[in-house]
Order: sequence, then C-alpha cells, then structure tokens
Amino acid sequence: MLETASHDPRAIGLTETRPQPCSLVIMGGGGDLAKRKLLPAAYNLGLDGVLPDNLAIFGFGRRELSDDQYRAFAREGIKTYSRRSAEANHLADFEKSIFFVQGSFEESDAFARLKTRLEEKELERGIPGNRIFYLSIPPSHIETCVNQLKAAGLICPASDSGTFSRVIVEKPIGRDLESARQVNATLAAVLDEEQIFRIDHYLGKETVQNILVMRFGNSIFEPLWNTKYIDHVQITVAEEDGVGTRADYYERAGALRDMVQNHILQLLSLTAMEPPWAMTADVVRDNKLAVLNCLRPVSDCGSCVVRAQYAAGTNGGVDVPGYRREQNVEPNSITETYVAIKVFVDNWRWSGVPFYVRTGKRMPKRASEIAVQFKDVPPILFNIDPQHSVAPNVLVLRIQPDEGLSMSIGTKLPGAKLRIQPVEMDFRYQTTFDEQSPEAYERLLLDVMVGDATLFMRSDEVEASWTWIKNIQESWNREAIRWLPEYVGGTAGPVEADKLIEGEHRKWRTL
Ligand code: BG6
Repeated sequence: MLETASHDPRAIGLTETRPQPCSLVIMGGGGDLAKRKLLPAAYNLGLDGVLPDNLAIFGFGRRELSDDQYRAFAREGIKTYSRRSAEANHLADFEKSIFFVQGSFEESDAFARLKTRLEEKELERGIPGNRIFYLSIPPSHIETCVNQLKAAGLICPASDSGTFSRVIVEKPIGRDLESARQVNATLAAVLDEEQIFRIDHYLGKETVQNILVMRFGNSIFEPLWNTKYIDHVQITVAEEDGVGTRADYYERAGALRDMVQNHILQLLSLTAMEPPWAMTADVVRDNKLAVLNCLRPVSDCGSCVVRAQYAAGTNGGVDVPGYRREQNVEPNSITETYVAIKVFVDNWRWSGVPFYVRTGKRMPKRASEIAVQFKDVPPILFNIDPQHSVAPNVLVLRIQPDEGLSMSIGTKLPGAKLRIQPVEMDFRYQTTFDEQSPEAYERLLLDVMVGDATLFMRSDEVEASWTWIKNIQESWNREAIRWLPEYVGGTAGPVEADKLIEGEHRKWRTL
C-alpha cells in the first residue's frame, strides 16, 4: 500500500491502512466484470483479512435476482475466476455481506429502493454511510447513473466529515478528446475530483507499480535514465487472443483507443516521469501529466504510426479467422487490431530518445514489457569490428506473464579467444517470492476503500492523453482507406511496423 497518510508525505509507507466500514455498490452488478473480476477480487481481499469488518456489497442491475440468486452468481464467479480457490467456510461468510437490488438507470424508484436497502444494511452492520459506487456500465449510462445517485441523495459532498462517497469509473473515458471532456464534466457536476476514481487496471498490476520502485528505490538506474545513456525504449503489449466476443465494443474502439490511449501511455509516463517528491496521489499524477504534456504531437502519421489488422492465421496450432471474419465484425471493417508508434518525449531528460510502442491482438503470445536499451559502447577496444559488434545492454521489465525483470550484460566467453556474449541477470517474481501477486482489481478496490487515488487517472491526465491521440485520429480520419495492412494471425505484426524501427537501425524485440 502506498501510504498517503499525513505523517510524512515523502515516504512510501509499507504499513497497511485498514479501510473504514463501507458499502460497495456495483452498478451493473449482474455483468461480466462483476462476475469475473470484482466479486472475486473482493473475496480475495477478504481472505487477506484486509476488508473492513463492517462491509456490505450490493449488486444493482436490470436482472430480476433475489439476494440468494445474486449470491449464487457471486459464488460461481469466485469458483471460476478467483486467484485463490474458493474455500467453503470463507465463501459462506463472505456471501452473507452480498445483496442485490433490481432496477434500471432510468428509473428513479429503483434508486430510492437502493437507498432504502443500503440504509437498512448500514444500520444493521454499523456502517456510517460510507459508500463506493462502481460504475461497471456502458459509458452512455454514466450521466444518467450519477445524476440518479445524486438525486436519490446517495452521494454526500466531499466536504462531509465523517462519511465518504466515492465513484469508480471504468474505461473507456470517452472515445476522443471532446467526449472525454464531456464525461469529466458530467462527473464534475456531481462529484469533487477527489471522489472520482478512474480505473486503468494496468496501474493495479504489481509489476507496473514496481516500475517506480525499481527506478526510485535503487540508486544504480536513475543516473543512467536519460538521453545520455539510453538509446531507445520499447513498450510492448501483445495479446495472443483475437477480439473474441467483444466485437460490438472493439469495432468502434480499435487498438489506439482500447490500449494506447490508456494502458500504453500510462506505462510510458511511469517510465519517463521525473522522480516525484512524495508518493501522494497528486504529486505522482502531476509528474505523469508532465510527461503526457510533452509528448511530441504526431504531425506525420505516415512516418511514425503503423496500424494494421490481423488476417487469418493460427493460434496454438489451431486455424483462426481473420478479424473481418470474426463474429459481429463488419466484413469491410477498417478497425485496427495493431498499432505501432514512434513517440518522443520532448523534455531535457529524453531529448532525441525514441519510445517505440506497439500493441496488437492475435500476436504470437501474450507479453507486456518495457525494454530499455542502453547506448552502444564506443567503437574502440571490444567494439571495433562492425561484423561482431558488442550487443548493447537491455533492461527488460516484464509486466506479464512471467513477471520480473532482466538485464543483459556483455560477458567474455570462456576460452583463449576474446569473444563477448550477452548474458542475462534475471529476477522472477514467481521463484523469488512465495507470495502470489494480487490481481490488479484487488489492489485497486482496496485503494478506493482507503481513499488512495495514486493508481487512478486524474481528469487532466485523461484529457492530456486524448489531446495527443487526437492528431493521430484526425490524420486517420482524413485518409479515406478501404483496407488496412494485414499481419497473419499469430505473428508479430505487419512488415510496415518492422520498417518503422529497422529504418533507424533498430529492431523490435522478438516476441
Ligand atoms: C482491456 C482492453 O482494457 O485490456 C482489452 O479493453 C484487453 O481489449 C485488456 O484485452 C488486456 O488486459 P490484460 O490485463 O489482460 O493485459
């Protein structure tokens, strides 16, 4: 837990802050996210003993479910998706805190019913009106939902001492700069910024949090972390799966909106940011924002951006269709399933250092990593012969799977001849620590309960990322194309992306 307590804001406290008694209301409680992630995350927090003693979890949704039926829904989700296996005793105990209220977002009566039931359970359980509303709902319902919550008197002002109301908003926050501003304005009309928790689940991943610890908890990296020593950075978020059953959403999103605007820009900001002077939500987010604000606008998409779509191919030896043949995808779709971009952070530290970012579905494997490639050693001593050049050092932060980090170092091969080979110093979470890393949603839910917004996006961060994305969107909108470049499903992207980096005598890391 990153301590944001008032004692010493410059310190990372490793002490756990116990959340106050509260109710967690999942708006859209009968949906997939609740079943796969939120309820299992809450269950695991319970196993860890970090949930407040007095807790009520409510699902709110259209489905006609009794409390018992919702408990069965939660049980099924936990049994299938929980990080740790469901234990009968714990589960039975956990289920006692679960309730359901049926209703639609348009219906003010439903919100009145929710209020009555919340108050009843709060009274029973000694919860002093602290409420967290998780909006696990389509973006088009956000406005109605927060207005209804407000009108029903379910949200108290941030200035109320003694109780809190917090709202968690899922991505996507808008689909471009204008719509993101609109979502932020809608939320700001009802809530103070400190009450809003915008989720980017990548920030909840243990290895993403480790970027800051690695950079600022060790003295050996920071002196080298700049244009003088770093040649370039590669950020990859590759997925093996195709679009699956999410085409309805993905067709209108594409990889740029779905992955680059949020997850990838967040990874980039954490990699490039200046050391925060305190581990408090606003200081960390100010520093991330400073990176987003100095991203060089992409003026020439042709030379810096590649988009593509997966064609038919294989996945684990099985033939799989191309994107245009997937269920619910337009046969002439030009939605990108792959993007690669060369990005510059135009500040003193990073002047001239390219950040190559790429993300795609139907790649050879699932792999998210940040690779920092250091400069070549000078062409003297061991690096004279261009035919046998010494491989540069590379520091790789593996976000997932096989979480850890590795550093490649040139070493003399044993023998009379002088031959240098890179060897890897490797750290793996799995083998080093006995403990299993918590799921991102566990960490994020707990942080909302204790009111720590460090790992959530602030409105200005969201708008700054959209501002940078806007040029690319506008440039694509001007191109009246009917086809995108393709890559064979199960391969590492299109040849155009190779040219993007190889033209500069660099290479993508092998996936
Ligand atoms: C989501 C995207 O935000 O992240 C999905 O909408 C993507 O398209 C997912 O598959 C990837 O998350 P993770 O945690 O599996 O890397």
